[in-house]
Amino acid sequence: INAMADDINLWQKSTLNSIVQKGVLTVGLEPGYMPFEMKDKQGNIIGFDVDMANEMAKAMGVKLQLVPTAWDGIIAGLLTGKYDIIMSGMTITQERNLKINFADPYISVGQTILASKKHAGKKWSDLDKPEYTIVTKIGVTGEIATRKMFKKAKIRTFETEADAAQEVLNGNADGMVYDKPYNAIFFAEKGADKLAHLSDELTYEPLGFAIRKGDPDFLNWLNNFLNQAKNDGTYKKIYDRWFAD
Ligand code: ARG
Repeated sequence: INAMADDINLWQKSTLNSIVQKGVLTVGLEPGYMPFEMKDKQGNIIGFDVDMANEMAKAMGVKLQLVPTAWDGIIAGLLTGKYDIIMSGMTITQERNLKINFADPYISVGQTILASKKHAGKKWSDLDKPEYTIVTKIGVTGEIATRKMFKKAKIRTFETEADAAQEVLNGNADGMVYDKPYNAIFFAEKGADKLAHLSDELTYEPLGFAIRKGDPDFLNWLNNFLNQAKNDGTYKKIYDRWFAD
């Protein structure tokens, strides 16, 4: 009887239960990270994570509510209950994993370098010189990699990936270290005569959906949802929509 009471208690405390009770899944994300979450011309938030969130809400039988959130504070927002889950291209790092739980990775990326065209064909280490400036976004894995790898170059950080990329485009910086999918899209859209994409991956970064700790029910649901989506064609359809070459 005690064990059964414990089980019921756990279920009642699970975020999954509260989502079903409320009839809405709330998702924290920071738009601007192509192709996972960004704004279209009308200002709607679209992208890979948004499509996955829609499928998730559908499978739960609830509505979806996106909660746009600055990257700085996105984990704090989860911990204080501003949303049920972070779906924002977040790399599963061991440091973040001390504070939050992650469902199994849904994709893997790596850091690459979006560089000025004059650096085409170079290696990252060729850019680690005092006369060069490397930019990245503050608080992301790109910043961690930059500070770990670049010991001689000047490093400047920006609040958004768009501002950092713009510095390279303007010729004010030599390279930006950031997640490969973002760099590839930025390069394809604006790079032609000003940029080079040094596309060798410098890191291994599994991305995962993040939830509060101590919630095995929700974690179990998410991992089974991911397994289902990856094997019934749902994931491939979404992947192909955002990663078509
Ligand atoms: N993968 C990187 C990280 O976790 C960058 C993610 C940025 N996501 C965003 N929605 N702006 O640090």
